[in-house]
Amino acid sequence: MTRVLSGTRPTGKLHLGNFLGAIENFTKLQNLDAYFMIADWHALTTEYESHTQIAQNVGEVMVDYLASGLDPEKCTIFIQSEVPEHVELALIFSMITPLGWLERNPTYKDQLKEMKGKDLATHGFLGYPVLQAADILLYKAVKVPVGEDQLPHLELTREILRRFHHLYKVQIFPEPEAILTQAPRIPGTDGRKMSKSYNNCIYLADTKEETTAKVKTMVTDPARVRRTDPGNPEVCPVFYMHKIFNQGNVPTVDKECRTAARGCTECKMEMAGKMNESLDPIRERRKEWTTKPKEVRKILDKGRDKARSTAQATLSEAMKAVGLRS
Ligand code: TRP
Ligand code: SF4
Repeated sequence: MTRVLSGTRPTGKLHLGNFLGAIENFTKLQNLDAYFMIADWHALTTEYESHTQIAQNVGEVMVDYLASGLDPEKCTIFIQSEVPEHVELALIFSMITPLGWLERNPTYKDQLKEMKGKDLATHGFLGYPVLQAADILLYKAVKVPVGEDQLPHLELTREILRRFHHLYKVQIFPEPEAILTQAPRIPGTDGRKMSKSYNNCIYLADTKEETTAKVKTMVTDPARVRRTDPGNPEVCPVFYMHKIFNQGNVPTVDKECRTAARGCTECKMEMAGKMNESLDPIRERRKEWTTKPKEVRKILDKGRDKARSTAQATLSEAMKAVGLRS
């Protein structure tokens, strides 16, 4: 059966950008042979100074995973650092990955710019995609649901595996492919990409009231100053959200915006209502799982054991290929 793997860095609660950009696809792919991890080592690459937060964030992401609809009966959910084989395979890959490949990586360059407050001139951060290649290839995953910012990492994963096969004259790893959602780039309340560092997020853990209040602060078409000015929905992040949460009414919203038949306040309230409707079941499940930490831990124990047995088999193939085991 088709093997799927993906992961999320536990750097805080999940927001709508994470959910619509990737996690929603996790739930759609969980009927395949699917593994979903919480990438705590990847979090440490940028959060090594606020490390005391990571364990708590692991718990938040886990509850968000379950609330989003990941079913532990169907898929394997685990914490990356509980499967030490990830580090072993990453170290092997680090031997054969040219520095130039890592330095050229556009996601790496973007993140260096975005996280100015942190010293990210570290070995671990440069090697981030090497660890990610190990995550994917340990499970021989062929489908990797991710946001579009991860495409360079997938490309690097393929380059590393080709080099590995070429150097050691083996064929161990299948080539993984990224699976993107329909709406890979979600705008935040200020119209920029939704991102924790921009403080423009709507979180899955937000209440109905918090969500509505945030929607009210959203930017709209900046050229629409007076209520009587016609608007251009194509540049409006509220309209973008209508296309996701209020699909049936998009033609009406479009027309009424362009003719100034609707005001931005009522337009936002309609969208917030629809958004809340689709987030309500997630909020319900979130509440429920939050009260069951023991069951959550059991799910992670089971996930770790299953992940380890798959990971150990692949690692032993790789150890043989590089000549460290016979
Ligand atoms: N780098 C991914 C992100 O920031 C998280 C991640 C870590 C991942 N390991 C992975 C995604 C393996 C897919 C496969 O979103
Ligand atoms: Fe955006 Fe709606 Fe205002 Fe048009 S009416 S600019 S779509 S909020």
